[in-house]
Amino acid sequence: MATILGSVSMSHIPMIGMAINRSLQQDPYFKPFFDGFAPVHRWLAQNRPDVAVIFYNDHGLSFFLDKMPTFAVGAAPEYCNADEGWGLKTFAPLPGDPELSWHIIEGLVGEEFDVTTCQELQVDHATAVPVELLWPNQPVRPIKVVPIMVNTVQHPLPSARRCLALGQAVGRAIASYPRDLKVVVLGTGGLSHQLDGERAGFINKEFDFLCLDKLIKDPAALTTYSNVELVRLAGTQGIEILNWIAARGALLGDVSELHRSYHIPISNTASAIQLLENRSAGTLRRAG
Ligand code: DHB
Ligand code: FE
Repeated sequence: MATILGSVSMSHIPMIGMAINRSLQQDPYFKPFFDGFAPVHRWLAQNRPDVAVIFYNDHGLSFFLDKMPTFAVGAAPEYCNADEGWGLKTFAPLPGDPELSWHIIEGLVGEEFDVTTCQELQVDHATAVPVELLWPNQPVRPIKVVPIMVNTVQHPLPSARRCLALGQAVGRAIASYPRDLKVVVLGTGGLSHQLDGERAGFINKEFDFLCLDKLIKDPAALTTYSNVELVRLAGTQGIEILNWIAARGALLGDVSELHRSYHIPISNTASAIQLLENRSAGTLRRAG
């Protein structure tokens, strides 16, 4: 049976892709950000997940404003990224797991989530940068991925309540997968940031910490916010917290926080990493 070991949620910032490509991990501006990953690397090395199921939002690479699914699930044998206009060097393709993808899709549609299914999908910095951060310098990728796209870009967006429910349905689908697989769930984006408009540069540390705290044991508390309230509190792009809420939903066991790091700012963003353990998954060793 497949088990969900836990989740790692983190910001996805194109500038970090540049920093990786230029080996700037020890640069004073980037060092506090990269150092925040060390406990997560240790946890991944100890627990060795086989697959990462990734809740992310596309920023116009595969879905533009003319066609925007609310939820889309990748079912491709591999996922390439491409230059999205940030001048990012592309990373090596990410291997997929179409069999698990289709199992998740069947589960979601069975629970009345009408998802778009993608047998070809390019993934942008919201998937490529987090994978590169978690499994750096690997000539052969040690992980397969199932990307799940949540629309956080073109209104109307799915509610936080719906995203939590989506994650829970994904968690149930994974739990019913008959193969022995260890799964880590990723949520990418956030935390508070606004890239344009009058509030460009907006950051709300107090609200970010409230979100990090609630995500551990009480994610439903975050579903009391409307999307307008989330945009007001977290910024236009801070609404990417919806991906974190979906990822948290997939953890159906007893959840505890093993690691958190928060650093202001990287680019225009309050960057954060949160590692949550899903305790029903069996005996896991702690990060530290
Ligand atoms: C930045 C953050 C994002 O979430 C994103 O998608 C693009 C850019 C930034 O902080 O620069
Ligand atoms: Fe983003």
